[in-house]
Amino acid sequence: MSLLEIRNLKIHYRTKTGIVKAVDDVSFSIERGGTLGLVGESGCGKTTIAKAIMRLLPRNGMIAGGEILFDGRNLVNLSDEEVRKYRWENVAMISQSAMNSLNPVARVGSQLIEAIQAHRQVSVEQATRRMEEVFELVGLSIERARDYPHQFSGGMKQRAVIAMALLLNPELIIADEPTTALDVLVQDQIILKIKELLNKLNNAMILITHDIAVVAETCERMVVMYAGKIMEHADTDDIFYNPYNPYTLGLQNAFPSVKGQRKELISIPGYPPLLIDPPPGCRFAERCPFVLDICLDQEPPLEQVAPGHFSACHRAVDIEEIRIKSKDEATWLAKEAA
Ligand SMILES: Nc1ncnc2c1ncn2[C@@H]1O[C@H](COP(=O)(O)OP(=O)(O)O)[C@@H](O)[C@H]1O
Ligand SMILES: [Mg+2]
Repeated sequence: MSLLEIRNLKIHYRTKTGIVKAVDDVSFSIERGGTLGLVGESGCGKTTIAKAIMRLLPRNGMIAGGEILFDGRNLVNLSDEEVRKYRWENVAMISQSAMNSLNPVARVGSQLIEAIQAHRQVSVEQATRRMEEVFELVGLSIERARDYPHQFSGGMKQRAVIAMALLLNPELIIADEPTTALDVLVQDQIILKIKELLNKLNNAMILITHDIAVVAETCERMVVMYAGKIMEHADTDDIFYNPYNPYTLGLQNAFPSVKGQRKELISIPGYPPLLIDPPPGCRFAERCPFVLDICLDQEPPLEQVAPGHFSACHRAVDIEEIRIKSKDEATWLAKEAA
């Protein structure tokens, strides 16, 4: 049984202007100890999925269909009491705004100790020992445990937040854009740290980011999302070397590999569509340089294009030609001008 299995998940937000269909029929799973990258531009539904897994959707958000199975148990039906036990204990989240989630008026070490004691019946000494353990794991010096958050640099705060997520040793950790707010050098250090931790500990992780190169470095499997839908889903290496979806190709151009030589950056012109009234057909059609008439009115199904490799695109048969053309900036600029 998978550790986490998401089946045909649909999530809607009620807003004054209509229902936002933020996640539309998404399925994927993650095994014990596995690493999965969830990639896509801002507004594609990544954080919404993370919050649903944490059972932290805001009041106007609702699961409109599908299942989220953790260890075979459907989270959608958990009682509030069950949610309190499950959250942080089974799944922890390092959120986008994590750095602001430390309490500014409490010492960092004490915050961790309190968090342990809120969930476990342990002595202060035991909780302190665990705090020191996770401090060490994330590469923070124990002497700094008595500091207040404002005495920490951005990178140190981020490490403290990762330590917080590791505290109860949850089977699954969701890291939502864990490095976006940091400068590039610190970003690399944090990603290295996360990689090192994943090798050492056996937690599974979902890494959410808009930077496909970061996922390529860190995760075994990858789910590429666009406008609430999965566009491509495969082992990271398969996507890296044999991408099948024009949107993935666009992301690879926009976020060139960190390893290897840094290629020229080509961004995808335009923006993701609004999800109140998403376009019929392929949601990427409007921005895709390889669009055909069929793409505008028929939604491409997510189909297996190679073993364990899925892509939603009407043009899978032409992929070799598309891969070559996609490397040329003129291809994307021509689309913008059209
Ligand atoms: N609380 C909310 N109320 C209404 N719409 C929301 C809310 N949170 C997110 N959305 C919308 O849901 C879509 C997906 O957002 P999100 O999951 O945050 O995407 P991502 O994490 O990929 O940037 C976007 O269109 C966003 O505007
Ligand atoms: Mg997000």
